[in-house]
Amino acid sequence: MKVLLAGALLTVVFLAVLSYEFYVEPRRMELAEAQVKANSIEFGAEIYQTGCAQCHGPQGQGGIGTAVGDPVWLALYDDDYIRRAIAGGRGQWQGSPMVAWGEELGGSLRRDEVEDLVHFIRNWQIPPCTSPGAGLPDCYSTPEDLAPYVVARNLPRYSDEQLARFGLQPLKSPVPRTWDSVLRGQALFQSCTSCHGPQGLGDGPAAAALPIRVANLRSEYVQQRVPDGEIYYLIKNGFWHGIMPAWGFLESQSPTAIWDLTNYIKSWGIPEDQIPGSPAAQALLGQAAGGS
Ligand code: HEC
Ligand code: HEC
Repeated sequence: MKVLLAGALLTVVFLAVLSYEFYVEPRRMELAEAQVKANSIEFGAEIYQTGCAQCHGPQGQGGIGTAVGDPVWLALYDDDYIRRAIAGGRGQWQGSPMVAWGEELGGSLRRDEVEDLVHFIRNWQIPPCTSPGAGLPDCYSTPEDLAPYVVARNLPRYSDEQLARFGLQPLKSPVPRTWDSVLRGQALFQSCTSCHGPQGLGDGPAAAALPIRVANLRSEYVQQRVPDGEIYYLIKNGFWHGIMPAWGFLESQSPTAIWDLTNYIKSWGIPEDQIPGSPAAQALLGQAAGGS
């Protein structure tokens, strides 16, 4: 009898321990994991504010760099993409200020620090809704819900298909890059030479007194990597809190003004005979006509 009782008691104790293991331990693990994740986000925030915010914006709203806090951008790119961009940088695009931060590539960040940054940036994402009745700003029901959150600076970087998924329109120039447009842009560029210099090299007389370096608009980076839509957006809205002033008012004088400026700046990266209506293109046409 005693033995039976002891056996029963043991079973009860055993079951209690087992149920503790089954029900309490996973919960404890969950909490611990959540705590580790919260700490990681916090570490990531510290690194971000000291090393990344000056280019990507304190709220991820973008600046010289992509708006990495934009929920549409976050919905399009996975952790691995973000990890690679941080650790590997964008050095393959010559002249990009986005250097490789990973220590494997000579950067200053350990692997776990890159991971903390990924967690921190991901924390800005608005996730899809999973329970009925839930909605913005906690989660989105249809991709179109996110459209109002997109940072306009990111728009030119998305492909047409990506934009369509979020009910967005691409930022495309309505003004063809003709010689007429280039000449109109050249006249308007007189307003820009004090900082950007007569050739757009960033060496205007007012440049030295500014707290940041003025962009060289003839650089390979601006000519090859920055899409027209982004150049348009930056001229129209300015950036670096107004150090690069906003020129949106020009559109009230001429609706094509900012695209004309964009066409003029981008004309530096292409041979003149490829610009319709240019003297070089006319001469080519004349040669073709004369030769036949
Ligand atoms: C000196 C400015 C600068 C600093 C500092 C900087 N970045 Fe960038 N970053 C850029 C630019 C510019 C790009 C866009 C590169 C391109 O498209 O050519 C970029 C791209 C990125 C991208 C990929 C975005 C995309 O559209 O593919 C991520 C992610 C990123 N940066 C994260 C970071 C993090 C995290 C830090 C801090 C450790 C950081 N950056 C520091 C300028 C900077
Ligand atoms: C008060 C000085 C100033 C004036 C005037 C000015 N800019 Fe800028 N501009 C800047 C600075 C500073 C930057 C930022 C440099 C950087 O971060 O790359 C900049 C950046 C730009 C860029 C972005 C280049 C890039 O990195 O993608 C464009 C395009 C541009 N300016 C065009 C213009 C045009 C067109 C005008 C005239 C309508 C103009 N700017 C007038 C100071 C000026």
